[in-house]
Amino acid sequence: MLQSAWYIIQAIMTTESITITRPDDWHLHLRDGDILKSVAPFTAKQFQRAIVMPNLVPAITTVRQAVDYLDRILAAVEGTDFEPLMTLYLTDNTPAEEIVAAHKSCFIKGVKLYPAGATTNSDDGVTDIHRCYPTLEEMQRAGLPLLVHGEVTDSEVDVFDREKVFIERVLIPLIDTFPNLKIVFEHITTADAVDFVMESGPRVGATVTAHHLLYNRNAMFDGGIRPHHYCLPVLKRERHRRALLEAIASGNSKFFLGTDSAPHAKSRKESDCGCAGIFSAHAAIELYATIFDDIGALDRLEAFASFFGPDFYGLPRNNKTITLDKIAQTIPDSYPMADQSVVPLMAGQTIPWKIKSNHDK
Ligand code: DOR
Ligand code: ZN
Repeated sequence: MLQSAWYIIQAIMTTESITITRPDDWHLHLRDGDILKSVAPFTAKQFQRAIVMPNLVPAITTVRQAVDYLDRILAAVEGTDFEPLMTLYLTDNTPAEEIVAAHKSCFIKGVKLYPAGATTNSDDGVTDIHRCYPTLEEMQRAGLPLLVHGEVTDSEVDVFDREKVFIERVLIPLIDTFPNLKIVFEHITTADAVDFVMESGPRVGATVTAHHLLYNRNAMFDGGIRPHHYCLPVLKRERHRRALLEAIASGNSKFFLGTDSAPHAKSRKESDCGCAGIFSAHAAIELYATIFDDIGALDRLEAFASFFGPDFYGLPRNNKTITLDKIAQTIPDSYPMADQSVVPLMAGQTIPWKIKSNHDK
């Protein structure tokens, strides 16, 4: 009895831990209604703030809709100090006045470009970026960032090449026309995107998901079709994953944390036409810690997770901390979500890091 207590004390004393400034998630899907109530607490327990995607049905295209959505999110995380940072959904017809109102609102931090048809709930997205030029002009003036789903929708283009072709067809002309527009290239997946971001000026940054760092495209076909590894942009070749790992390990401030946690009910993923999206909010910061630890760059985690994002957006860094222990935890096979369930990233597997506590600095 005494001996086992001694082993427990020893284990506690020798546990490796890391304390970092409380992180933010710069790309997140919270959904709405009962799903929102189920998933938002996962994010609020580890992140101080999150950029919330507007691809609801109907899409959040106006400041009025964004205020109402903000209220619903705040109700879902009541009792926490989590701060949602809202976004507007760009359409072919977003009036420049809506941008002025968004900028004045102070709680809208970006405008999301979904090429029409590129992904979940993107039907009202942009059919031709040129139609948005007056709106983008206003965003450039206001300093409101454009958050980009960077894939062409042209069915002639192979699904694995859509990010690369988007850079050539849309992004390069865009930064030429709007050199002062802040752009976040969301959930980058390729070496081409890493190169583009590194070669662009300081107004271009990128978010990187945990799943694109953890897996290459083989993960979708590992012994059979794996719908829970299907997301958009789709997982790519190993050489692209390695380029993402190098980008985050380099400590370049243009690359920061954005989970793209995108919950879909299990039944909608395991279907003959399964939805794109990977739910990672349940253990996001622990997954990033695992990744940084694996590549011997744990000392770079804090800047990636907690400094580079707010610096890019011109927001203050958080003044609380979070502590993670190197203690194994097993991820559940599923979590309840509204009246259904959601399968989390790494379901049933064990990961080496676990949140210990949150503190004031
Ligand atoms: O995999 C994805 N899921 N990619 C997106 O761009 C959208 C997201 C969703 O909303 O489900
Ligand atoms: Zn997304």
